[in-house]
Formats: sequence, C-alpha cells, structure tokens
Amino acid sequence: MKALEIRNKYLNYFKNHNHKIIPSAPLIPENDPSVLFTTAGMQPLVPYLLGEKHPEGTRLTDFQKCLRTNDIEEVGDNRHLTYFEMLGNWSLGDYFKEESIAMSYEFLTKILEIPSEKISVTCFAGDDDCPRDTVTAKCWKDVGIPDERIYFYGKDENWWIAGEEGPCGPDTEMFYDTGKEPCSEDCQPSCNCGKYVEIWNNVFMEYLKKDGKYTKLSQKNVDTGLGLERMTMLLEGKETPFDTEIFKPIMDKLEILAKKDDIASRRIVAEHLRASIMIIADGGRPSNLDRGYILRRLIRRMTRHLNKLEIDLNELDNLIELNINILNDLYPELSKKKDVIKEVIIQEKDKFMKTLIRGEREFSKVINRIKDSGKDIIDSKDIFNLYETYGFPPEVSKDLAEENGVKVDMDEVDKLFKEHQEKSRLGSEQKFKGGLSGTSEKEIKYHTATHLLNAALKEIINKDVHQKGSNITEERMRFDFSCDHKLTDEEKNKAEDLVNKWIKEDLKVSVETMKKEDALKSGAECMFIEKYPDIVTVYSIGNISKELCGGPHVKHTGELGHFKIIKEEASSSGVRRIKAVLE
Ligand code: ALA
Repeated sequence: MKALEIRNKYLNYFKNHNHKIIPSAPLIPENDPSVLFTTAGMQPLVPYLLGEKHPEGTRLTDFQKCLRTNDIEEVGDNRHLTYFEMLGNWSLGDYFKEESIAMSYEFLTKILEIPSEKISVTCFAGDDDCPRDTVTAKCWKDVGIPDERIYFYGKDENWWIAGEEGPCGPDTEMFYDTGKEPCSEDCQPSCNCGKYVEIWNNVFMEYLKKDGKYTKLSQKNVDTGLGLERMTMLLEGKETPFDTEIFKPIMDKLEILAKKDDIASRRIVAEHLRASIMIIADGGRPSNLDRGYILRRLIRRMTRHLNKLEIDLNELDNLIELNINILNDLYPELSKKKDVIKEVIIQEKDKFMKTLIRGEREFSKVINRIKDSGKDIIDSKDIFNLYETYGFPPEVSKDLAEENGVKVDMDEVDKLFKEHQEKSRLGSEQKFKGGLSGTSEKEIKYHTATHLLNAALKEIINKDVHQKGSNITEERMRFDFSCDHKLTDEEKNKAEDLVNKWIKEDLKVSVETMKKEDALKSGAECMFIEKYPDIVTVYSIGNISKELCGGPHVKHTGELGHFKIIKEEASSSGVRRIKAVLE
C-alpha cells in the first residue's frame, strides 16, 4: 500500500468517526523558539490539550510533518530518519481509553487488514505517580488481544511527554510482529532485535508535569501518533524505509551514479536530502544558529557523503528534482518552491566544498600524526583548532576520525566549544559596554518598552501572561504574549496608560549578574530558561519588572517618550500580538 493511500485511509477513517481533519502545522513552529522543529503531532495542539477550546471541536485528526534531530548521527543504518510524517488523532476531553483502543484496533485490522495475531501491545506498569493501567489492558482483551500479547512496562517505555514538562500520561503502544525468529527466549516488544516494530502510540494525556511534579489536567485527552514511513515499510513488506516507494527511486539513482558502493552513504544522502527539502520548503535557511545549523549540518553531511560515493556534485540539481517528484504525491506544494529549494541547497553545498577540501587536507595531517605516534584517539583540541582555523565542522571530524578507526571524545569537544562560546559571549558584552554594539538608541528604547509592556499586561490581564516572542526595528516594537482572548479597548487603554505612567515616573533600570538558579529564585521572568547560560544578567525596572535578559536597555524609563499601541491581533492559537510605537 502506498504512503498516500495509508494517509488517506487514516484521515478518512477518523473523519467517519466524527473527527475534523486539520492541516499540518509547519515544520518550523511558530512563536516557539524553545523547540527547533515540530517533533510530534501534539506539539501545535498543546494549548488545547491543556484545556483551551479548539475551534474545530474535541475530535481532531491530521498528518503532521515532523523532524527529530537527536539521532542525526544514526541515520545511515536501516531505520533512523530525521524527517518523518506522523498521522494522529486526538480527543480533547472527549473519548478516552476504550473508544481510542477500539478505533485503533479496527483501523489496523479492518482498514489496513493487518492480521490480529501480528499485533502485540504494551501498557503502563504503574508507579508512585500513576497506577498500573489495567483499564487499557482490559480494553485490549475486549477487542481480542490475548493476555500473552499484552506487556507491561514502566515510565521508560510506556509514558509519553514532549521534552521535560507539559501534558503527558501513560501510553499504550502497538507492535507489529515481522515474523522474524525471536532473538532469545525472552524476546519482547521492548527488544531492539527487529522482530517487533512499533507502529502506533496512544497516549492517555491526563497529567501535567511541572517542576518535577505530576498533577491531573482539567480534562482527559488522547494523543496518538502513527509513523507513516514505518507503516508504509511494513505494508509494502520491506525491510527498511529506504526500500519503500518513498526512498527507492532516489536510492536506485544514487546507486547508478555512485562509483563506490556504500549503502550507509546512499541512505544518508537520500534521508538528508529529503529532510533538507522539507525544512527549506517551510522557510528554513542554513545558518550557524539552532534551526539553521541543523539544516546546515544536514546539507553538509549529505554533500560529504555524495563526495564519498564519488558522485559528481553537479548531479545535485537532478537529484533534488527527482526527490521533489517522488514527494509530489504527499506534498504537492513542494513543486512551487523548487527553485528556492535548489538554490539554497546548491549554494550551501558550494560553500561547504571549499571548507571541506581545505579541512580534509588538514585533517589527514592530524590523522597521520596520530597514527604515527601509535595512538588511537584524536585530541579534542585538534578538532577544535580545525574548526577555528578552517571552519571544519566538528561532526565531520568525528565522522572522519571514526572512518579511520580513531576514537573521539565528543563530550570533551563539546566542553571546549562551550568554553569558547562563553568567552565570545563575554567578549560581546564587553564590546557593548564599550559602545561598539550595533543596536541603535531607538532599538534600545523599544527593548526597555518591551519589558514595561510585559509587566503592564501581567497586571491588567493576569499573571499568566508570558512573553512568547518579540521583534524590534527602528520604527516599532512587536510583542507576542500568551492570552486566551482578544484584548478589549479598555484593556488596551489601561496597558498603554500604565506603561506611560511608569515612563513618567522615570524609573531606574538596573542590571546585575547572577547564577541562573538565583535569578529564578528571585522571581525574575524569563522566556525560555534552558536557552540561558549558567550565569545570567537580570534587568530590573524600579520594582515593577525583573527579567533575565542580555540587554541593552536605557538607564531610566523617562528616556522612552510616549508609548502607543497601534495594533492588537491574533498571532497563533492562544498567542496575541501587540504592535506599538514610541513617539
Ligand atoms: N505524541 C506521541 C508520540 O509522539 C503520540 O509518540
């Protein structure tokens, strides 16, 4: 069965069970710099899982473009992917375990026609936070899964949460038995031998994890995720996703073009090319920061493996063309973006080739030195120097070292990079103190006004208003914040008046440097705590505002002039946006 057919069957099945089909959110989350990419179908739905009303109701279904970056280095084996599509259905305080399991079972066995005996399931074994999920096990038994194919595991296997905090709960996972011989007497779904393949995860999200503690949410949700590439692989009877129609044509083409036979390299090229195309189509561009750096790494790694396969790099144009054609079934919008996708990938490849050629030459000298000295581990400083002097990426050094049978201590390398980043951060703060920063006076004023507006909204709307984003130009400030309603005129006027009152009071703006944990204890506000280093700067305005912030700010609020809100609008679900000026 083709991927598109599986997707359509899925959406239709849930539509027929009163779910509304909602569109996939972009791969690059809007207004959430705390995550690099959308990693699960539930991510854009978090406010609704927490209780906000979704405009489409309480039963939703979609396909979601996802990218998970923790396993980039693993791509090349027979299963890891960075980009994948997740099919999902949600109950927002509507149905719960029984109906969710009955629908999953019916979809798998009746619609996809997977024989029931091929399905094993796992349930949560229970602990101090949440009892053993015997209800789920009973639901499975009721639909026809016998006890011997129902397994219980702890939080490490059967509990799902996106990241560290947020909505979460016990889950039940469905596994497909490939029919391979068990790897041991104790072979189970939790085993990685390849006999069992996880096909679907239903999370019973009725908990919220915050500050390490679990509390019950106001509603019982269901959040499910089914990986499209994996299901396609099983239903096409293939061993790996690279053998399915999603990757096969590009894998075959690479095999024809390559002068060297290396299946891992072919998989890396095929996978990273597809992921890069998807990221660029959703607006991502290579850079040295966060999301941009992931894209840069994907394109660089792909380029290096094209090179390793001895494929003429001018073929890249054709390979992108072919890949977009393959993806056309699932993502017809890509063809409209073909030109920009090609331009971004090819430019980045050209840039990288210059670095690569020089760096590889230097790298071989290092490797020869190591081998001559009889050692089998590369000094982390060498990796760092190759980066500093030639821009040679550490992950490429790691790959090359390993290909040469030389070990790398990546933790040590990371440490060197962190030290280096800290030094440059302090360096740029020094520069700023010396007045060399590029920030204009006007922008500095807007920056301080942002803190005042944040404090004013907390006072006027409620304490749960938090900054979700901000953007400052010479002409205006833009401020995004969490809020569940359109501001009334009265609220807008009050916010404006309060900011202007504080400006008139000419409050002193002061700055201190402290440990991150002390800053938080002191009640300082901050947008994304994990983004800050251990030592932070905290800006206070009189006693009305205290925020973790890199600055710069004015010395006294009296410098700002008159504050005026020019627009208030929706930014995304649960997030409002204010545009304002200083006159
Ligand atoms: N959110 C769940 C997952 O990603 C369904 O597995």
